[in-house]
Amino acid sequence: MMTVKSLARTALAFTAELENSALIDNFGNDLMSALAIRPRCLSPKYFYDETGSALFDRICELKEYYPTRTEISLLTKHARDIAKQIGRRAEIVEFGAGSMQKIRILLDAIRAPARYLPVDISGAHLAASARALQRIYPKLPVMPVVADYTGALSLPDMAVNAARRIGFFPGSTIGNLSPLEALAFLKKAAKVLQGGALLIGVDLVKDPSLLHAAYNDSKGVTASFNLNLLVRANRELCANFDIEQFYHSAFYNAPAQRIEMHLMSRCAQQVRVGDQYFVFTEGETIHTENSYKFTIAGLQALAKKAGFQPATVWTDDDNRFSLHWLEAPAL
Ligand code: AVI
Repeated sequence: MMTVKSLARTALAFTAELENSALIDNFGNDLMSALAIRPRCLSPKYFYDETGSALFDRICELKEYYPTRTEISLLTKHARDIAKQIGRRAEIVEFGAGSMQKIRILLDAIRAPARYLPVDISGAHLAASARALQRIYPKLPVMPVVADYTGALSLPDMAVNAARRIGFFPGSTIGNLSPLEALAFLKKAAKVLQGGALLIGVDLVKDPSLLHAAYNDSKGVTASFNLNLLVRANRELCANFDIEQFYHSAFYNAPAQRIEMHLMSRCAQQVRVGDQYFVFTEGETIHTENSYKFTIAGLQALAKKAGFQPATVWTDDDNRFSLHWLEAPAL
């Protein structure tokens, strides 16, 4: 018979296997395709190599970057309420699990969780965080899944002892998807969570000066995070970006309700990636990220379209951030 300990060990072995297996990395192809057309746009998923993930963790601690702080205080304040909604023996699936800090607030509040499935694209970071979490919750079966959750979302079958599946998608990561990708993701989530629910953290539309400060921090960590893409390209793709010759540019595009991040060329220059050359004029950019902001009604409309039934919403006093409980009806 499998004990809880051996189950947990099996789960971690499963991670190690996944860590080595080929999560197909399209950074090279995607960067070259992006550079070959105008406007030049690259998926923000490529920010998260080891350095990028560490820089993102530092962003979350910046005084200007309010989303993490605000979401953590919302989770802490409403943990009991949320735990009640989650119920006993739930299987928790976290999309984009990263360093697994926020889930601990829920794990400390919920009763007898059946299993925790952190899903993330960054295999090494995921495995290290899962090992650290396992040490804190030795009895909890933890089964990391290395996957790009914006692609085909296939999860292992639900644990036999689980009552239902609850999705957790914190950090307003949904804001980094295009509206079409966000809808597609929510549709897939509604399907894999059938009979359960999704708890999602969403950044709200607000005074643009607060948004501007959050993405142009005084310590320059967000700039390093953005520019690290070029450092990564130099290291992994034999590129020769001169990092000093690019600016970090981030601004609020109000009609589109999004922060845009770009890497802007400081001068006319030519860059090599692998065996191909790309020309930049002065001021030309690579668009590296969108971070959409939502109204509560806007998020609920999107969730409904994807098949969820919006229920409780928790917000802070300044209406900066929101946590939504979205029911996923059994089909
Ligand atoms: C991960 N994501 C929700 C962050 C955001 O705010 O869009 C990524 C980020 N980009 C710059 N700062 C933080």
